[in-house]
Amino acid sequence: MISEEQLASLSYPAMPKMVTNSLPGPMAAAVIERAHKAQTPTRPSVRGRLVIESAMGAGFTDADGNVFLDMSAGVAVSSVGRNHPKVVAAIRDQSEKLMHSAGLVSDTTVSLAEKLNATLPVGLKDESFSWFGMSGSDAIETAIKFAKAITGRSQIVAFEGAYHGVFHGSLALTTRENFRAGFGPLMPGAMHLPYPYCYRCFADMKPSECGSLCSKYVRHKLTTPNTGADDVAAVIVESMQADGGYIDPPAEFLQTIREVCTAKNIIMIVDEVQAGGGRTGKMWGHEHFGVVPDMMTWAKAVGGDLPMSGVVIHERFRDKLPQASQVLTAAENALSNRVAMTNLDILTDPEDDLMGRAVIVGEELKAELREIASKSKFMDEVRGRGLFIGIELVSDKEKRTPLDAKRMGAILQKCELQGVRIMSCGRYGSTIRLMPPLTATRAHLRAGIRALANAIAEVEAETVN
Ligand SMILES: Cc1ncc(COP(=O)(O)O)c(C=O)c1O
Repeated sequence: MISEEQLASLSYPAMPKMVTNSLPGPMAAAVIERAHKAQTPTRPSVRGRLVIESAMGAGFTDADGNVFLDMSAGVAVSSVGRNHPKVVAAIRDQSEKLMHSAGLVSDTTVSLAEKLNATLPVGLKDESFSWFGMSGSDAIETAIKFAKAITGRSQIVAFEGAYHGVFHGSLALTTRENFRAGFGPLMPGAMHLPYPYCYRCFADMKPSECGSLCSKYVRHKLTTPNTGADDVAAVIVESMQADGGYIDPPAEFLQTIREVCTAKNIIMIVDEVQAGGGRTGKMWGHEHFGVVPDMMTWAKAVGGDLPMSGVVIHERFRDKLPQASQVLTAAENALSNRVAMTNLDILTDPEDDLMGRAVIVGEELKAELREIASKSKFMDEVRGRGLFIGIELVSDKEKRTPLDAKRMGAILQKCELQGVRIMSCGRYGSTIRLMPPLTATRAHLRAGIRALANAIAEVEAETVN
């Protein structure tokens, strides 16, 4: 397994390190002011206080010389860390040979498909083929179109709390209101069933007593006559729900979806855009549950420093897809292909064993976090697998009242002031999600949760007074 010293050499030597007393510092503030004028208000970065100027491993710097520890890995993208030396070398080498390849066959695209195939579980490995895009959203749009073309049906079933992207099809499957508001009507035929968010069960039941109600509801909706789900092309599900709250579902849930989809000739699409790519301790999140999807979407960690996404489609559907019908001019870029291949090599290197390490380090982190939570007023459930960790923050542990946006914002800002970038998620915006690079050292991770614990304790103290 890769050593802590080897991992430390991939990041800035001293991190986090703050040189300004407040954020943004003067140089960063000037960039933000220009961004307000020059950039769209629809990007969250325009509301933020952090500016990124350069990056290395688990860290990045701003224009004032602050060095931040990124406990969110660039929104679950930089699993191997930013600017990994092998990635930089691949970019240098490939950029001299070929980058743009639209409409032409490139060995780099074929090789990427083959390398990706080698990471797939039995049932897809050597029995599937790949489509490539540039963002998670375009992969989802593509999977939806393919499912419709294959089945000749029109409805897509997704789940409450899902985040699948921001275009008219993928947004119709996403349930967060601030993304949807004002952009309708979205793709027709989308419907949402409950995802097993057991901490906040829609039926107010405990996992031990509900008999997997969410699974039963999927079965009921898709197999009972006259439920309105009479023309379902696909069920799309995140193997572990990300934006909805970093939720690790019971295995029975995905297994039931698999069973019902098989029985009804419905395409099961597993969205691995955020949980996939090794973060949970397995290359693909659904591998934890012993199910094999018909299609799988991926992006983020595989592309890493360059935009890249894809859909893996089972071989039996090849003849159902209209020829040359889903084309993106900029896709299959040779530079992005090389970077994705390099990332896959790093993530699956048996000697480094980054995924095995993510499981061990993830368990250590969760144990520490649970210890802190036991003494904290706000910190409640700590859950997740590997380095995909969710923490519920509440103002009342008995009632599980979600911590309000103001105090959530204050906590994240206090983390930033200590040089640590942490993000939230969840139906109520009250879940902390820890998704650091798999290459962060134990010392980095401990510094990250120390900053979080300090920030929470400070806001708790302000609340008491
Ligand atoms: C599970 C999931 N699917 C799809 C997407 C959309 O990906 P992108 O932002 O690259 O379009 C995301 C983004 O966070 C995601 O988490």
